[in-house]
Amino acid sequence: MNIRTFLEQRVRNAMSACGLAGNPGLQPAARPEFGDYQVNGIMGVAKQARRNPRELAGEVIAALDLDGIAEPPELAGPGFINLRLTPAFLAEHLATPLAVTPAGNPQHVVVDYSAPNLAKEMHVGHLRSTIIGDAVVRVLSTLGHTVTRQNHVGDWGTQFGMLLTHMQEAGASSAELADLEAFYVQAKQRFDSDAEFAMRSRANVVALQSGEVRARAAWQRFIDISLSHCQAVYDRLGVLLTAADVQPESAYNDDLPEVIRDLATAGLLTQSDGAQCVFLDEFKGKDGNVLPLIVQKSDGGYLYATTDLAAIRYRARTLRADRVLYFTDARQALHFRQVFAVARAAGFAPPDLQLEHLPFGAMLGRDGKPFKTRAGGVVKLTELLDEATQRARAIVNAKSAELPEEERARIAHAVGIGAVKYADLSKNRTNDYLFDWDQMLSFDGNTAPYLQYACTRIRSIFRRVDADFPAVDMAPAHAAERQLAMQLLRYQEVVETVAAEGLPHFLCVYLYDLATRFSQFYEQCPVLNAEADDRARRLGLCARTLATLEGGLGLLGIEVPERM
Ligand code: ARG
Repeated sequence: MNIRTFLEQRVRNAMSACGLAGNPGLQPAARPEFGDYQVNGIMGVAKQARRNPRELAGEVIAALDLDGIAEPPELAGPGFINLRLTPAFLAEHLATPLAVTPAGNPQHVVVDYSAPNLAKEMHVGHLRSTIIGDAVVRVLSTLGHTVTRQNHVGDWGTQFGMLLTHMQEAGASSAELADLEAFYVQAKQRFDSDAEFAMRSRANVVALQSGEVRARAAWQRFIDISLSHCQAVYDRLGVLLTAADVQPESAYNDDLPEVIRDLATAGLLTQSDGAQCVFLDEFKGKDGNVLPLIVQKSDGGYLYATTDLAAIRYRARTLRADRVLYFTDARQALHFRQVFAVARAAGFAPPDLQLEHLPFGAMLGRDGKPFKTRAGGVVKLTELLDEATQRARAIVNAKSAELPEEERARIAHAVGIGAVKYADLSKNRTNDYLFDWDQMLSFDGNTAPYLQYACTRIRSIFRRVDADFPAVDMAPAHAAERQLAMQLLRYQEVVETVAAEGLPHFLCVYLYDLATRFSQFYEQCPVLNAEADDRARRLGLCARTLATLEGGLGLLGIEVPERM
């Protein structure tokens, strides 16, 4: 259960019994002296009601019914209320097996993530969307939401004319297409330097878009190869995306004229320099002029935004989504704000459909500049993942030389891939983040290897327990046990926050804190050598910690090896 919202409701009830409305502002306490949770919203409410905050907090405390749940609430400072859960309450909740409680209002959530441009090879720019989106998908699913993954890959547009022409003329074999990046560079070079080639490429775009059979077949071949590259990356990363989740830009081709027609019917279209645009007053540029959303170029071509409008229409009408999440980098923020607003104005998105752009910052190298190869090129994902597992392999070889070769390879995979994913997930996605091999592969600090290792350490405790340990009263008897227990009971709360805000770093911070508290507990409280009841209770805490760490890492899409 979500203890935070449960307590918050109790405080709300007490407030309304005192004739007060407003947010209790219930937060996990910043320090143990402040209890487990602290109510810090009374000051704001008092100000509004022109009342003395301490007096008001006293009234709320008098009306607060937390019998058997918390110790008598404490009034603190200018009007805080500190809440401390009773040992009996902790014991009761620790005795039930770890399970995520499903959301009370299950939704159909569409998650739009990864979505590389198929003209090129997947690169680090798609890593963040893929990893963060996938973790959020897992969290939403575990809460009982219906999740539809949508991989909105870019498979349409003018670049494909140039690629098809190069393919037809250079007679590209599958081997040549194995390096899509190089193939793209060659085609682009010809396109830029050879006017005839550029003309043939434009003709190919027209052929492709008008459905000419040969152009379509060549395009399909290219797309299939490019998608198989993506799938190989997804499989290595262990993300959930499959071919069934691909809903490419081209899937909306037939809808685009309808989108334009609907916009016209809604009176939203304006012609500007020959292009069809939507001007909404709320979007102004620096110069104060209203910014257009261009939906059709003067040559009749459609744009990225047009396709996104069609996608919203499809997600609302056909998929019947309640909520749509988009994971792309922050530079697309204006695009999505405009597209969402136009979709609402045109009636593509009903008012109760939640549309959320969940932006992320850039991935930077250790020098603080955009992450590049030493030669300054884009870093291919396959190469990045190769390096991750190689580096992890060297570490595992050094640390666990005694393990069989094959097992070390498996561990290196889990550690290397886990490190890359966790490094990304553990930072607040809205910031840029520094990609640093040494940091992410370190066994100390907020990293995947640290948490994976914490799991294997707890497992090794259980390898030394022969019989089943009896169920006992789980009420914590030591300060370190209590610190650990409280953190264990916050799992649901954190999972719900990640689902609501699409911010997986909250779960990472939580797991790191849990592992840290576990270490402190394990240092201070003997487990295997403790006498009967202490031993059983502490083993219970160990088991719960392991289940929570594994569950949490599972939600982040990170594997835990059996041993390390
Ligand atoms: N293909 C785009 C890119 O690489 C991302 C697409 C995101 N999804 C969307 N519905 N626009 O930047």
